[in-house]
Order: sequence, then structure tokens, then C-alpha cells
Amino acid sequence: MPFDSSLNDIKKDFLGIATRYRVANGRETCRHYLDSAASTLEMKCARQIADELLRHYANTHSQAHFSARIVNGAYDWAHQQVLNFVRPGDLRRHIACLAGAGSTALLNRLARMLTARRPERDIVLVSLMEHHANDLPHRKHARGVVHIPLTGEAPALGAIDLTALERLLEQYRDRVNYIAISAASNVTGIVNPVHGIAALAHAHDAWVVVDASQFIAHAPLALSDNGTVERELDAVAFSGHKLYAPGSPGVMVVRQILLEGQEPDELGGGMVDDVSLSNYQITGYFPDREEAGTPNIPGAVQLGAVLNVLQRIGMGSIHAAEQRLLRRLLTGLLAIPGVRIYGDPDLDRTPRLGVVSFNLAGLEHGLVAAMLNDYHNVAVRNGCFCAHPYVRELLKPELWELDLDPDADDADALIKPWQGMVRASLGLYSTDADIDALLNGVHDLLANPAYYRAQYQGDGAGNFCHRSFTVSAKSLFDPEAMLDQALASLSVSTDVL
Ligand SMILES: Cc1ncc(COP(=O)(O)O)c(C=O)c1O
Repeated sequence: MPFDSSLNDIKKDFLGIATRYRVANGRETCRHYLDSAASTLEMKCARQIADELLRHYANTHSQAHFSARIVNGAYDWAHQQVLNFVRPGDLRRHIACLAGAGSTALLNRLARMLTARRPERDIVLVSLMEHHANDLPHRKHARGVVHIPLTGEAPALGAIDLTALERLLEQYRDRVNYIAISAASNVTGIVNPVHGIAALAHAHDAWVVVDASQFIAHAPLALSDNGTVERELDAVAFSGHKLYAPGSPGVMVVRQILLEGQEPDELGGGMVDDVSLSNYQITGYFPDREEAGTPNIPGAVQLGAVLNVLQRIGMGSIHAAEQRLLRRLLTGLLAIPGVRIYGDPDLDRTPRLGVVSFNLAGLEHGLVAAMLNDYHNVAVRNGCFCAHPYVRELLKPELWELDLDPDADDADALIKPWQGMVRASLGLYSTDADIDALLNGVHDLLANPAYYRAQYQGDGAGNFCHRSFTVSAKSLFDPEAMLDQALASLSVSTDVL
């Protein structure tokens, strides 16, 4: 179907873009949500499809009644949207599997399955910039993990160092089972050349597992960039909640041949042809074989709807719009003395998506994030973003200055308030006003550091609490009270009846 609405219309169709909170100076203002790398806001039109489906809700393992047929059709449609989105050269070569609550479950599953498939290949190469979800599962299941270094020098590190990667592939010749890399970092947004890495991997008979959690909603990602199998990604995982569909499952697209002939990792209902007391026969049909148990049907359909909308808009224009905002954010931050940006900020040399992590000279990341929230209604994340090795690598020069050893095995040796950053990240709904609010907040804090520091109390673990301005989450959202209200209105309408 042709799509008449522009990107601008879709930008307005998100739940939560108009959420308002009262800030420390007493004014009520609109929240500036710059935490999309953690979770994106919900695309309303996609949610609407899932809500509509709920009127027909039934289990996908039922078959005979109208609702079961509707739900099965919609669930299959969701898988098809995933495959359409990553455009496999040959639809029969890859399967889409929806499971878990994010990419973590599927990255763990891939680590287990790929290790079991070729136990004789005992090494997995993992980049130094990975989220823990694409590092720890491989550490747990592979016999050895070797980390791939990055280009450049901290704090301006770049993408994966391809020369170093080639050297590692040679050094561990015939031993590397697969390479696990992110398409884009959740700390810096820096993009890795995943198809080039796939070609390198394949030349050494290794596979490539790509964590696309931070990429998929922000730029076009085809399984192969030139249609050849050499440059085709073997497995891609991502999370629906980072794709404008909170509450949706994780996704894995994987070359079917990597799963065939091996017992699935999880067993249960809906994926067997027959079971006797002494035996069971698993269906040969994909993806059912890989999706034991009742799936998250509304979440899957919501996710499928988002992917469909994004495709209609065109990932190229979504990427271009985000890059414009990213340049505004980077240029604005780079122009402020006292701001240190992590990862190479030169977008022409080192492509990145809409994620920027930074620190302000002499101010703890926890204090900066608290102040931006409390005074400017800017929602950012701070800390190490579940990527401790990468964050430490980026912070090395600062930690050395503080006489701390970033390579020490003892994590306690690093003082928390200094081990971390502030991260601003963009989504489809982000605006110039969001970026300007952040820049304004940074200017304000750097102009009055003593004043703001005096307003806060640190807990020694990196968190900062305002001394006089407190807002309890319950005063803004009390599920019990809301339920009371909902039930009261239910009895009012029943009374009328
Ligand atoms: C790059 C990356 N990979 C994996 C994950 C894990 O995703 P989830 O928590 O949805 O499983 C995240 C989450 O922040 C991420 O940013």
C-alpha cells in the first residue's frame, strides 16, 4: 500500500512525547526524552494493530476456530515483516525467530547453539565495544573469548580494527567458530562495517553474529549489502523494545542451516510432531521448531507493524533525519568548553548513529544526569550502559589521571562516581527542541557548578539526590490507585445497567 503520511506525521504518533513533569523551579514542562538507546517510546499506530488483534485473541497453538486462524495469520505476518525488513537474498535461507523479552535471550541461545554445533572450534572473537548481552553469553559457552581491539585512541576510539581482526583470524586459524559484533554501539553509536567483517569471517570459515539492537531502528540493514553470500550476516539479533514496540519479543534472524539437524535449545509445546513416554519427535518446520511454548503474540504483531511502517517510510530517510539531529547534538556539545565526548566525533571518518556519551569536566555523571532531569526535564542515562570493558577503555586517560588502573581485575578499584558517562540518544520522535534543551542544561550546569553541586547529595555509589526537591514516582503513577479508579468506574457503569 502507498503511504501518504510523511516522516513528520509519524514523528507525532508516539505515546509519551507530550508527557509533562513539574521540575525543581516549580514549572511544569514537557519531558525531553533522550534515552531511546535504553528503550524507545511506543509507536501508536502499531500498538493499535496489536490492540485490534486482541479482540480476536486466541492461542497460536489452536487451529480450528475463527480467532485461532486470525491470530495464526497475524503471527506469521509478523515473522514475514522481520524477513522483509532485512531483505535476505534468498527467503529460504534464513528464518526469523521471535522469543524472549529482548536480544539477550537470543544472543544466549545463539552462543549455546553455535558452540554446540562446532565444539572443535574453541574460540569466539568478540569486539571490545559490545554490550554485555553480546559478550557474556559467549564467555559462558565458548571455551575461549578473545576481544577484538578498536581503531584510534581513547577517548576518541573508532570502530573495530579490521587489521587486528584479520591478525586474530590468522593467529587462531581453524579455531574461530564465530565473530560476535554489534552493528552499532550502545555507548557511542559508532557503526561497524558488519558486511566487510562477515566477508573476513567467511574467508576463515567462521560465522558472524551481529547484535543489531542499536542499529535496526535507525538505519537500513540488509543481511547482505551486495547480494552475495560472502558478505551475508549469519545471524542477527535485536530487541523489539528498542524498535518502538515496548513489550514485544526479541528477534533473531539466522541462516537456517546453522540450526538444522540440531535439537533446538528449548523444548516444550507447539514444536513437536509426537511425544510418547519414551520418546519425542520435534517438528522439522521452522520457525515453530525454535519457538517452544505460547509466544508473545500481541507483542510480535505490534513489532511486525512497526517494521512495516518503517519500511514504508524508508530507512534511508529515517537515517538521514537522525543524522541531521546527531550533527546538531555533536556540534553543540563540541562547542562547549568542558565537554568531553567519547568515541571519534568525526562523522565522516567514523560513522555513528544517534547516540552520544559525554562527561563534563569536574562533574560526576550521576550529578549531571540528575540535574538535567530535575531542572531541565531532560531524560538521559548515565553509568556504564552494560558495556563496562568498553566504557573503561574510553575512560582510560581520565582514570590514569586519577591514578586508577582501568585494567585492574578488581572492579572495586575504580571509584564509581568517576566510572561512567552521560548518554543522550535519539529516536524517530526526537526534535531540535530536545537537543537544545540538553545543550541549554549543559550550559547552565557548567556556568553554575558550585550552585548545582550544593543542591545535591551523593551516595558514594554514583547516585545524586536533590536535597529539597523530591518527587516520588508513586505521586506520578500509582498503579493501585489507578486500578481503584478503573474498578470504580466499572461499578458505576454496572450500576447504570
Ligand atoms: C547493543 C545492545 N545489545 C544488546 C542489548 C540487550 O538488549 P535487551 O536488554 O533488550 O535484551 C542492548 C540493550 O541495551 C544493547 O544496547
